[in-house]
This record gives sequence, structure tokens and C-alpha cells, in this order.
Amino acid sequence: MERLQKVIANLGYCSRRKAEELILNNEVSVNGVIVNKLGTKVDNNDTIEINGKMLNKQTNKVYYMLNKPRGVISSAEDEKNRKTVVDLIDTDQRIYPIGRLDYDTTGLILLTNDGELTNMLIHPSYEVPKGYLAKLKGIIDKDAIQKLKDGPIVEGRRVEVVDFKIKKKDPIKDATYILVTIIEGRNHIVKKLFKSLGYDVDKLTRVSYDFLTLGNLKSGEYRPLTIKEVKKLYNK
Ligand code: URA
Repeated sequence: MERLQKVIANLGYCSRRKAEELILNNEVSVNGVIVNKLGTKVDNNDTIEINGKMLNKQTNKVYYMLNKPRGVISSAEDEKNRKTVVDLIDTDQRIYPIGRLDYDTTGLILLTNDGELTNMLIHPSYEVPKGYLAKLKGIIDKDAIQKLKDGPIVEGRRVEVVDFKIKKKDPIKDATYILVTIIEGRNHIVKKLFKSLGYDVDKLTRVSYDFLTLGNLKSGEYRPLTIKEVKKLYNK
């Protein structure tokens, strides 16, 4: 038996939070009876309907890697009707991004309709390393480098910097290009991390997500993940 909102989310219908809202709004029924309590548990034989429509338990699972361009929102919908990462992918399935990148951040983002994998990967205990290439305003100094080695504190918590590499210091442009790999899910964490060291991030690109890298994907391009890649994500 599993909690109703988890089952709805795992079938890829919507997020767990949204499923809780639907339940509390009397929009969900189990075996023909409206359920509006969040503790309700169901099993595989139960028929779940949302607003009278039966949930398809055989949803085809799909997985994509997108090279997100700037100026695109990392969510399935936007109340201001701006372009979203989902708009860039041609699929009949109801997909959503795994985690977020800022509006002005580019790079690797995964999208799927697999709620189970999403919940696994975004859970802090999963510790997915993510690589970012940041263009900093200014030339990074020794003090900042030492702090990166020690693990900088952002908003009272240490950021686990797995690795970092200075790619280029450009005195003419007064910029530093640095590759940093962190295990973190906090919003705007890379920008906050460098801010705490005294640097603004001018440009930010995510170049890797765990073992996945962008490869030849150009900005706005995407590809499905292979079965092997999906299995590897599951077996972390
Ligand atoms: N850190 C940020 O500051 N922005 C992102 O988009 C991702 C990580």
C-alpha cells in the first residue's frame, strides 16, 4: 500500500504537492468514492479517478536531456506565459523538469514523466554531483580559492564543493571562468556561493548532472536518455 498522493505523482500525473491539493479539493476518488484525506493508502487494484477521469497506470515513461537556453523557465507551466523547458520538447507525455535552473542559466536539464525517479534524484540523500561553468566578474584571488577548498558557508550551511578548476583568468575582460562541481539543491546556490566569496556570476551553464554531460547538444537541442542511462540513474 502506498499513499495516494505518492501514487498519483509516481504515475507522472503531477507533482506530489499538486496531488495533495487535488485530494484536498475533493477532485480525487478511489473506487468511486471521493477521498479528501492525505493519509489515504491505495494499492495496485484500486481505481483512481481525477475529476472523473481514470488514471492510466500504464503511462509510457520518457526521459530527455535538454540544453536549456537563456530566457526559458524551468517548470512545466508559467503563470506569466513565458516559454518553458517543456515547450521545447516535442512529446505527447506530460513531462516536467527534474529540479531547476534559473531563467538566465543555460545547460543540462533532465525532463521526464517518471515521478519515482524524480523524487529519488531531488532528495538530498541522493547527493547528485552537478557541474557548472561560471563566468565570474573579476579575477579570483587566493583567499577565495582557499575558501572554495575549505567548503564555503552559504546562509549558515557548508556547500559541499566536490571539485573545482579555474579554466581561464582573463584580465582584459576582467573575468574568471571556473568549473565547479557541487552536491547541492538549494536555489541559486552557485550564484550565492560565489557571492559569498565576493564575486558576481555573469554567466552560468550546467555542464554535467551526475555521469551525464551535454556532449554535442547545442542550445535548445535535446535527446532522449538511453535505457542504460536511465538504469544508471536508478542504481545510484
Ligand atoms: N545555481 C544557481 O545559482 N543557478 C542555477 O540555475 C543553478 C545553480
